Amino acid sequence: MRAGETVLEIGGGIGDIEIELLRSGAERATNVELSAAYEELGTTLFEQEGFEGRIEWRYGDISTDPELAPPADVVVLNRVVCCYPDMAALVGAAAEKTRRSLALSFPRDTLLMRTGGRAINAWCRLRRSDFRFFVHPPPEIVAAARKRGLHLVHQHRGRLWQIAALERS
Ligand SMILES: C[S@@+](CC[C@H](N)C(=O)[O-])C[C@H]1O[C@@H](n2cnc3c(N)ncnc32)[C@H](O)[C@@H]1O
Repeated sequence: MRAGETVLEIGGGIGDIEIELLRSGAERATNVELSAAYEELGTTLFEQEGFEGRIEWRYGDISTDPELAPPADVVVLNRVVCCYPDMAALVGAAAEKTRRSLALSFPRDTLLMRTGGRAINAWCRLRRSDFRFFVHPPPEIVAAARKRGLHLVHQHRGRLWQIAALERS
């Protein structure tokens, strides 16, 4: 992080990545979530770190409501693209908000992950849960961000997950 920069995390859960980025010099963070379940624990964590007042919790879907959060220098989606059906809309909305860098993690498009995804979805249907796991094609994820003027600067493939970092050209 560069000192004084802002962070937008989409689907940031309790905000642990935002805490790391504040530790490394960010000034403020915004966490846009579909679920309010994380805020209580997240607020406690931010207070313990001395970061109270430097996080804003917002609720909704940024791909259908882009006004939810202002643009930020650094935008992060960690394990979120796999929870959302309209990947192009979500990644596109995130890229639109990116002033400098966009970091994404998502499942690798492998037989193991596709099979695991099908098993998770079968279990969710059985439990009557609306949650679904998506293995979106990684080249299409990167392409959705590139369409908004970002270029790929780093890619890492782990055994299960892949990371892509893009910057504004
Ligand atoms: C698997 S969890 C990951 C949470 C956190 N990023 C982490 O890695 O611990 C996915 C999160 O993304 C959120 N989410 C999914 N689609 C979203 C969207 N369109 N906008 C905001 N949050 C979203 C869900 O509410 C959920 O909390």
